[in-house]
Amino acid sequence: MKRGLFITFEGIDGAGKSTHVAWSAEFLRGHGIALTLTREPGGTVLGERLREILLATEGPIHAETEALLMFAARRQHLEEVIGPALVRGEWVLCDRFTDASFAYQGGGRGVEKKKLAALETWVHPHLQPDLTVLFDVSAQVGQGRVARIKSPDRFERENAAFFVRVRAAYLERMKESPDRFVCLDGTRPIADIQDELGKKLTMVLSNWKA
Ligand code: ADP
Ligand code: TYD
Repeated sequence: MKRGLFITFEGIDGAGKSTHVAWSAEFLRGHGIALTLTREPGGTVLGERLREILLATEGPIHAETEALLMFAARRQHLEEVIGPALVRGEWVLCDRFTDASFAYQGGGRGVEKKKLAALETWVHPHLQPDLTVLFDVSAQVGQGRVARIKSPDRFERENAAFFVRVRAAYLERMKESPDRFVCLDGTRPIADIQDELGKKLTMVLSNWKA
């Protein structure tokens, strides 16, 4: 059985990830691909409980505690969901993964990069996404979209400077692994973005089948 592909979707809050992850899943299913659609933090019973803590806790959470909880959820997710699905030959589409920890806990909160790199090596020494789709929008655009949400979570309530740092950290992370990333301008009309995304997925699909 051929191993499936691991595709992650990233971007600041409001960049359009959820919209495009759902669309990509439909697109790939339409091309006969068996896939698992999942998200971080979350994807397992334990991970969803950690998500609740991470997104809804009112009291303080130290930046490093936040990073450790993200990676704890990830460890379980890899064990229960991501790893087994890939082995079954399914593709895994994941709404956020480790790049989000570098962007939010690293860029946003200021956790040292070398500590995050140590966690990355600990939690998934031999696995990286085959493709990471980064939806890029400015902090201003992201916040403008998120402002419509009635009850924003702990991250969505952060200020513009936070999202400027998160976006910069994503772009830096992309520079470090340019072959793994495709960066799409998230401010273009949704149909145009999906056009481009469809072309990229078709290319990945034909390489995988070859
Ligand atoms: P994310 O998951 O990255 O936070 P969403 O996919 O939930 O973002 O999108 C946030 C909001 O912005 C939604 O209301 C969505 O319809 C809208 N949106 C997403 N992409 C675009 C786009 N390219 N142009 C205009 N609005 C968009
Ligand atoms: P997300 O699923 O994008 O939220 P929503 O359902 O509102 O679209 O992600 C939840 C939040 O978790 C998001 O603000 C980013 C944050 N996050 C981190 O800070 N670090 C991480 O490693 C991950 C995976 C997510």
